[in-house]
Amino acid sequence: MRLLIATHNRGKLIEYQAMFADLPFELVTLDDVGIRDDVPETGATLAENARLKALGYARASGLLTLADDSGLEVDALGGEPGVRSKRYAGENKSDAERNAFLLAKLRDVPAGKRTARFRCVIAIATPDGKLWETDGVCEGEIAFDARGTNGFGYDPIFHVAERGVRMAELSTAEKNRVSHRARAAEQARRVLLGIIESVGRDT
Ligand code: IMP
Repeated sequence: MRLLIATHNRGKLIEYQAMFADLPFELVTLDDVGIRDDVPETGATLAENARLKALGYARASGLLTLADDSGLEVDALGGEPGVRSKRYAGENKSDAERNAFLLAKLRDVPAGKRTARFRCVIAIATPDGKLWETDGVCEGEIAFDARGTNGFGYDPIFHVAERGVRMAELSTAEKNRVSHRARAAEQARRVLLGIIESVGRDT
């Protein structure tokens, strides 16, 4: 059975291939199935965007489809940047500029009040509109400076509570053990196993 991973990002495909290696799915991307029109991410939340993408691309492709959306939620900013994480600080800004912008916003917020979390929501949909949803978080705090060179995005300014270092100081393998995406994907793996079982029962 083919599973469409709703992304143009080859790196994301490779991550999901590793996490779903033992499942009997052939993973394909939007480019593999010739979909060029993006489903607009107009949702007010990460979950809404994940659902919009999963349902839209499942309908367009006729395939079981997995879509994700992730972002950083800072408590002192009422959950911002959240669904706006990618474009926080404006269009065409670099990760370093976005990190500097967030650090400046939090300049007067003392240690202990800088709690934050990365969140990832995964939605899985069938072409006829059945929908499943999973959610994964990684808790931490926004530091006062940037440190570490691994990962991407907000990783250098995110202090991982359960590891005591920045996300950008973890190896890829370590990040994949604690990250929001890994946790949402682990639950998604169980959903996919259930779908396979129910297909087996129905045929
Ligand atoms: P996406 O939904 O995976 O494309 O993520 C949206 C945005 O959230 C990214 O452009 C990053 O700014 C931020 N983000 C999501 N996941 C991570 C992560 O693991 N590390 C750092 N930033 C992240």
